Amino acid sequence: MSYPARRPRRLRRTPALRRLVAESRLSVDDLVAPLFVREGIDEPQPVPSLPGVVQHTRESLRKEVARLADLGLPAVMLFGVPEAKDPEGTGAWDPEGVAQAALRDLRHEVGDAVVLMADLCLDEYTDHGHCGVVAGDGTVDNDATLERYARVARAQAEAGADVVAPSGMMDGQVAAVRRALDEAGRPEVAILAYAAKYSSALYGPFRDAVGVSIAGGGDRRSYQQDLRNRREALVEVALDVEEGADVVMVKPALACLDVIAAVRSSVDIPVAAYHVSGEYAMVKAADERGWIDGRAVAVEQLAAVKRAGADVIVTYFAAEVAESL
Ligand code: PBG
Repeated sequence: MSYPARRPRRLRRTPALRRLVAESRLSVDDLVAPLFVREGIDEPQPVPSLPGVVQHTRESLRKEVARLADLGLPAVMLFGVPEAKDPEGTGAWDPEGVAQAALRDLRHEVGDAVVLMADLCLDEYTDHGHCGVVAGDGTVDNDATLERYARVARAQAEAGADVVAPSGMMDGQVAAVRRALDEAGRPEVAILAYAAKYSSALYGPFRDAVGVSIAGGGDRRSYQQDLRNRREALVEVALDVEEGADVVMVKPALACLDVIAAVRSSVDIPVAAYHVSGEYAMVKAADERGWIDGRAVAVEQLAAVKRAGADVIVTYFAAEVAESL
């Protein structure tokens, strides 16, 4: 008799056996591609800290989304980069604002073949770079901001968004957006809530992509979560579910696998995770140096996010990984 009798390697012997017993599967259906559209440019502009990612023109965005539809991606998340910013971030709710114009283009281009998600925030549109209205004393005014988010929600819904994704971490933002959508006669528009969003240095490349720097070297610690906290995420998620969120998101992804798992077991609605710009940039940078196989590492990372419990993964790797799945 040979020992040990229990040999887990039996089920790892061939690719077909491994496939048969895999506990989770990363699929193109899980992935959402974040996309940037910039006003006032004639050619797509590369984002140096996000190799392979560009700020699109309206025209190049249409072509890209048509390509992503052909790849089978179910959804995109749109971010607008306006030509002019102001203290209020008025471009965010202007019916002619860049995100709204792009949403109308995309609805026309792809119909219902791709879910159009719109990030709902003010930071890309404000000259101070905060996600809300800054009061005289320099703090971000929660309730004044909610009123702006309601306007953005209406504008995005009118422009054709299937899903709006409030990302500013204001208290009550989901309730304010739900009410605005319902009052505007858009009860069918869903809310993907950035429910547990942590303050993180991993958003650096994203801020290059949207041209945001926070005035006076400030940060978002007074509204985004503290990375030391896990239970607090469950409080945030419970509030968002109560307020009407249809999907709840955790962000960033790899630093929060425990949070994703905890959220998955605490709610029965879909859970999303955002594999953010810094997570993408680190893999790309090491790949460029020949230190790692970037695509293989990307697949491993996204598989880990899936295993942790995410049903939906927003990632800059969406197209690249979709091609290889
Ligand atoms: C806010 C927003 C941010 C990201 C998504 N929505 C920036 C922030 O919170 O500072 C970051 C995404 C990424 O890093 O990929 N509009």
